[in-house]
Amino acid sequence: MAVRPAWIAGLHGGSLGFSNPLQESPMRVDHLVEPDRVHRTVYTDQAIFDAEMEKIFERIWIYCGHESQVKAPGDYWAVTIGRQPMVMVRQKDGSIQVLHNRCPHRGVQLVGNRSGNTGSAFVCSYHAWSFHLDGSVRAIPLAKGYENTRMTRDNPDCNVKRAPRVDSYRGFVFASLSPDGPSLQEFLGEARIAFDDMCDRSPVGEVEVVPVCHRVIQRSNWKFFMENQLDALHPSVTHQSTGISAGRVEKRLKEQRGAAPLYYHYLSTFASSFDQWDSVQTINFPRGHGLLKAYMGLRPSDPETREYEALLEKAYGKQKMEEYLSRSIHHVLVYPYLSVQSPLQQLRCLRPIAPDKTLSEIWHFRLKGAPEAIYRRSLWYYNLVNSPATMINADDLENWTKGQWGLQSRGGDWVSFHRWHGDDREENGVAYSNHGTSEVVMRNQFRAWTQYMAA
Ligand SMILES: [Fe+2]
Repeated sequence: MAVRPAWIAGLHGGSLGFSNPLQESPMRVDHLVEPDRVHRTVYTDQAIFDAEMEKIFERIWIYCGHESQVKAPGDYWAVTIGRQPMVMVRQKDGSIQVLHNRCPHRGVQLVGNRSGNTGSAFVCSYHAWSFHLDGSVRAIPLAKGYENTRMTRDNPDCNVKRAPRVDSYRGFVFASLSPDGPSLQEFLGEARIAFDDMCDRSPVGEVEVVPVCHRVIQRSNWKFFMENQLDALHPSVTHQSTGISAGRVEKRLKEQRGAAPLYYHYLSTFASSFDQWDSVQTINFPRGHGLLKAYMGLRPSDPETREYEALLEKAYGKQKMEEYLSRSIHHVLVYPYLSVQSPLQQLRCLRPIAPDKTLSEIWHFRLKGAPEAIYRRSLWYYNLVNSPATMINADDLENWTKGQWGLQSRGGDWVSFHRWHGDDREENGVAYSNHGTSEVVMRNQFRAWTQYMAA
């Protein structure tokens, strides 16, 4: 349980009669976030977490899944938006709806499985109320017993409630539990490049989900993950041992055989020098989104790559092919919950559960129409870097858990984001630094966080 800082405890009730700022409406967060540091309670406090769910996750556009997860009418995929259990379902007309996973009768979840096909209707397993795929009530069994009550089928309350807004971008489906606010494209802003870059790498401009994901519970606040994604200072420390070991094997194979498989390179680049990391730029967009530029050099010149490039050239022409394959992107963040590594078709999605507990879903995709060898590269990265079984992800998870434990202590109240503070430059709301290892990333994320929380 988090310990509240003295200034909050001093204000709570007490003889001066002030209220707790964490319980005020709108909640005051100005004391918690300063331009160069944040109060540790933003990672540990239950009231702040609850407010984040209400003001951010249950309002903004949340990624539900890819269209290829629900191909046929009746196909569904259960998903959590903020604290709300929802279900994404393919309609008879081919569109996709996102419904609350809740029977309007006694509140029981309509689907208990994570995915499946529900046929032409959802049927509640408790009292057999049934609903069309769009959530409208189909039948109330033994209807006579409800006559002259408010729960008759002409009452809209008998329908399963829908997410007010559902939209998709290049096959990636999002829903918002708020009836108003920015459109999906406005919300994504410059971070749209994540999905463009992923899909443009397919000769037909589309990807297909690989329909299993790693699901990892992180014993830490969701913000640790988001900060870590663009933290270019940590790899040369946290991932040094893994990177150096992989680099040694890669070097030996090159000496012995003349070449080493690309996947050794995935790991060895984590042990790049500090100067190399510091030269990799981050781009920090409005709404907390961000981008880490490419550093891995993922365009080899082997026969398989040339075959793939020929397919892209045939589809788009040489100029577009070059444009698509030479974008400088390592990964893109859609704040506050997505990390999309488009050049390798990876997507990680956070579903926060508690201040100190976060589910991450780790997905990867196939480029439609691309050779199998190109897919294998994505699969290797998925298993070697993003999987819970790899040393890279494991090293990060250890940091985040220890970070959470550290912030729950009373050894200090503030988290520092001072690195290269004062060196940022801003153009049209986009923040840059000349240093890849600048904490401008976190400063930008907390600027967005404060705007959401103060709204
Ligand atoms: Fe890391």
